[in-house]
Amino acid sequence: MTDAKKRQWDELLTHGATASKQHLADLFAEDPDRFTKMHRQFGPLMFDFSKQRVTEETLNHLFELARTHELNEWIARLFAGEKVNDTEGRAAMHWALRLPQDAICEVDGENVTAQVHEQLARMERIVEKIQAGQWRGATGEVITDVINIGVGGSDLGPLMVTEALADFSTRTRHRLNIHFASTIDGSQLSQLLRDKKPQTTLFIVSSKSFTTIDTLTNASTALQWLQRSFGRRASSSILHCHFVGVSASPDKMTEWGIAEENQIGFWGWVGGRYSMWSAIGLPIALKIGVQGFRDFLAGAYDMDEHFKNARWEDNLPVLMAMLGVWNTNVLGINGLAILPYDGRLKQLPLYLEQLEMESNGKSVTREGEPVERATCPIIWGDVGPNAQHAFYQLLHQGTEAVTCDFIVPARRYHESLHHDAADELIAQHQLALANCLAQSRLLALGDAALKDAENEPLYKRYRGNQPSSTLLLDELDPYSLGALIALYEHKVFVQSVIWGINPFDQWGVEMGKKIAMTTLGKIRGEDNELDDTDVSTAGLLRRIRAEWK
Ligand code: F6P
Repeated sequence: MTDAKKRQWDELLTHGATASKQHLADLFAEDPDRFTKMHRQFGPLMFDFSKQRVTEETLNHLFELARTHELNEWIARLFAGEKVNDTEGRAAMHWALRLPQDAICEVDGENVTAQVHEQLARMERIVEKIQAGQWRGATGEVITDVINIGVGGSDLGPLMVTEALADFSTRTRHRLNIHFASTIDGSQLSQLLRDKKPQTTLFIVSSKSFTTIDTLTNASTALQWLQRSFGRRASSSILHCHFVGVSASPDKMTEWGIAEENQIGFWGWVGGRYSMWSAIGLPIALKIGVQGFRDFLAGAYDMDEHFKNARWEDNLPVLMAMLGVWNTNVLGINGLAILPYDGRLKQLPLYLEQLEMESNGKSVTREGEPVERATCPIIWGDVGPNAQHAFYQLLHQGTEAVTCDFIVPARRYHESLHHDAADELIAQHQLALANCLAQSRLLALGDAALKDAENEPLYKRYRGNQPSSTLLLDELDPYSLGALIALYEHKVFVQSVIWGINPFDQWGVEMGKKIAMTTLGKIRGEDNELDDTDVSTAGLLRRIRAEWK
């Protein structure tokens, strides 16, 4: 680490030694303009960070830290298509997937925008055909169920967004349901296959590498299910009518049997967890239609432009990231709870767990040295009101300091959406909003939010001072969700710059996969040597093998 960086960290920590002693209740009492000073609006997103344990002086220190870590230079490298994923020798150009058709983006002499829009158009043709009921199964029946088979980045993003935007489903003349199967044990898939008709079911095999065992095993189970049902019908016709493939490896799709015209490609420069903007987002487009998907991309594109161009004081991803650095590295808070107050965002915490923890769960710098400071905190969450009845007790009265992201749309059930119980649902949404604001207030202020708290016994008192941010969306729609997700993607990138790590690789998950394959041989009795494992694993293997005799 350079002397300038060390100096800046020291200055930040010195400031932190005093600033961290201030309670949020005092910060609010001291400055009635705190909200005015500490919230920003970008498009449909309001970012309120007034409940973070910072002052304006803190922000200045954090921006200085970002400057000494050459944040602007790194942002420029990212958007120039430089190989910022150094351990894999690749660029990280998920942002290019959201470029409008007329944007100029050449990397190494290649017109990236043209390639992106060619595959987007290919995906859109498939979407329109399925939605119009023109995609027929091997017996000529209309496809009514689509099952996305994928895992990690090839599952979590599409799953989260299709659920979140279900209110924006395109109306089709026939029933069209989208399902997801990811688990390696086949439990989700078998559950789905139980009540689906082979004649009307289409599978999307989604895998950037097209080597992921979880996905390939589920795909081959699906193929066998179809083959069993169709009997003597030629495999090629089954594959042609019932499988679409999405991958960065066309050869592997072909080898597996995906018909060339059913393949949609993307590129090595799109990380798996950043890939739902590519054809990995096919289930999203099937759900909300071609225009809906384009609106989703547009929201993310506008966030990209904001991230590139806005000054740091107003830049949502930079602010969010630097507040996270403050919480982790100065306040020593190692937990971040993601708390959407909208049931449609149930999958968001899971999605962000992968985005943040697979990206920044690293302990080796880009220079190959051990990091000197903590990196990504532990991230978890759930729909806020449900979590209130589950783990909020710890947030309010436990011994751990935790920071929270509250995410909630201000408005719901806009006029164009007709619903039989619209009034009741609006009232319910107001209830969710009230709970969201009440929780962040109590977490921040503690007893100061209450009347006469000092007369209460200790077990009824609230410590407060748990920092949080609130992301208030005008409403949840394709555009605002696109912007929200891109905000988190860029936040992750900014933090990686400060921590000096590569957010685009994931070597830590590779070894476990290899050991699983050797362990499989021992479970299946192909390898009887148990002494080459540890005694715990050997003991468990003996017990499991007894079960399989
Ligand atoms: O094992 C981790 C991982 O490589 C993720 O990064 C990725 O999203 C997931 O596996 C699935 O990979 P693929 O899309 O290549 O099947």
